[in-house]
Amino acid sequence: MTYQAFSGARGVRVVAHRGASHEHPEHTLAAYRQAIADGADALECDVRLSADGRLVCVHDRRVDRTSDGRGIVSAMTYEQLAALDFGSWKGDGHRGAQVLLFEDLLKEALAAGRPVGLAVETKHPTRAGGRLEAELVRVLRDHGLADGAEGLVEVMSFSRTALMRLHRLAPGLPAVYLIERAVRAPRPPFAGHAGPGIDLVRKDPGLVGRLKAKGLRVRVWTVDEVEDVELCLRLGVDTLITNRPREVREYLDRR
Ligand code: G3P
Ligand code: CA
Repeated sequence: MTYQAFSGARGVRVVAHRGASHEHPEHTLAAYRQAIADGADALECDVRLSADGRLVCVHDRRVDRTSDGRGIVSAMTYEQLAALDFGSWKGDGHRGAQVLLFEDLLKEALAAGRPVGLAVETKHPTRAGGRLEAELVRVLRDHGLADGAEGLVEVMSFSRTALMRLHRLAPGLPAVYLIERAVRAPRPPFAGHAGPGIDLVRKDPGLVGRLKAKGLRVRVWTVDEVEDVELCLRLGVDTLITNRPREVREYLDRR
């Protein structure tokens, strides 16, 4: 199984941003199961460390927006997080969804019955002082995925510090340097992929070509609109990260 083995139609990969998060509460098992059913090539998730050192899939620093609780993720134990409802903010039909452990997401992807990748974004890199990256690599190593050999797991961050730490711990893992504002492009092997946001690409479409000229593969987030899919295809973007994996997958397959 290689990285290319799960390339999507037309060679463009579709990565489900926080799962099929347009339909389901982000980062929940339901969102990821839907994304797998929708034909996503890979699942994007943000990881944070709980107070007792468990890797959980949560985007925000606080639980307030996506749960019925209040507080800072890294100040709460896994047990406290697991007691919260991470579904009902999205509507009554999603009530009772629980916080997802990264390891459970990994098991879900591995059990998909086809190659489904994971694009793991590390959050709060400086605050946890490297513990998050170490725990991520430990979990991956437990599943034989820390050397990148299966091509299923990639790590992503806006932080050079986090990516360099990960590169030292697991040099074989493909790494994606996320870019919010125009910055100097990263170079392999520190990162082999660059991930600019769609706002940046709309403003500066030439950025994609400049990144590719440096030998980087390019993925763009978050691409939910047809015009943005078309723009990315014209520019030769390799991977689309989207909240709507089914629509984007179907659009690419029809095109
Ligand atoms: O996939 C990259 C994208 O997720 C980065 O932004 O804020 O959604 O984590 P954010
Ligand atoms: Ca993210």
